Amino acid sequence: MRAKKRPEVRGILLAGGRGTRLYPMTAVASKQLQPIYDKPMVYYPLTTLMFAGIRDILVISSPDDLPRYRALLGDGGDWGLRLSYAPQAAPRGIAEALVIGEEFIGDQASMLMLGDNLIYGRLDFLREALAGNGSGATVFAYPVGNPGDFGVVEFDADFRVLSLEEKPAAPKSNWAVPGIYIYGPGVAARAKSLKPSARGEFEITDLNRAYLAEGLLKAKPMGRGIAWLDTGTPESLLEASGFVHAVQKRQGLVIGSPEEAAYRMGFISPAGFKALIERIPSSEYQACLKRALE
Ligand code: G1P
Repeated sequence: MRAKKRPEVRGILLAGGRGTRLYPMTAVASKQLQPIYDKPMVYYPLTTLMFAGIRDILVISSPDDLPRYRALLGDGGDWGLRLSYAPQAAPRGIAEALVIGEEFIGDQASMLMLGDNLIYGRLDFLREALAGNGSGATVFAYPVGNPGDFGVVEFDADFRVLSLEEKPAAPKSNWAVPGIYIYGPGVAARAKSLKPSARGEFEITDLNRAYLAEGLLKAKPMGRGIAWLDTGTPESLLEASGFVHAVQKRQGLVIGSPEEAAYRMGFISPAGFKALIERIPSSEYQACLKRALE
């Protein structure tokens, strides 16, 4: 008898947008390739997907930038991943990534992560949320001082979602929605039925509102032990670099390293990890990974 194929959650990493708020840094290299302290930004969300247990990942970026992501990340084989690539012809919004990824997702569940979001801490909650998602959608909620810059979720006393709004002028709560989303099978069909917003984009918040309208949306507060940083402005970029520097220096560990994530998750063997380290040029990064191996 043929063994039944285990369902594998598909990861989508969206490195889109024009990055205009980071001009002129983004004049020739896309936002998610900019450094956060000692690594390209995209390494951080990539490792978040890995720590969620996801190995099949589609990277989406503009036609101009896509070759650069491919050059940086390759086919993922060294890290025990299967990476594939697809262009987003124009920056038409986050929800379009799920339409572009339709074939890749197939009839599996998916986790969509934005290439400019950085999540640090114990990520067990992501694996738990994936396991409990079913056919609906799960978003997360994180208290911030500037909710109007994000998607905002409002809860009742039992943490059921009352409302969800994109960058509201008068936010109904201080719970922002980070750029990481879980969907059950069939998400592409829903995303296709969205209408573009006033700014001409297929909004991820509109997709999540469609799930909410059907009673199929869960929103889970991220625990206090989790740090969520976004990196859309020069100042937040600098702050994120400072954060990574401080944690790495203090704890002597490395954040956002695909090599280390692959090793910790058992995607590669200790011997495979050692071989990867030996191929990395002599650098601070290499020294960090050597410490991780010990
Ligand atoms: C997007 C989403 C927003 C979310 C944010 C997280 O906004 O539209 O709901 O809170 O990402 O980073 P953007 O910053 O792409 O405008």
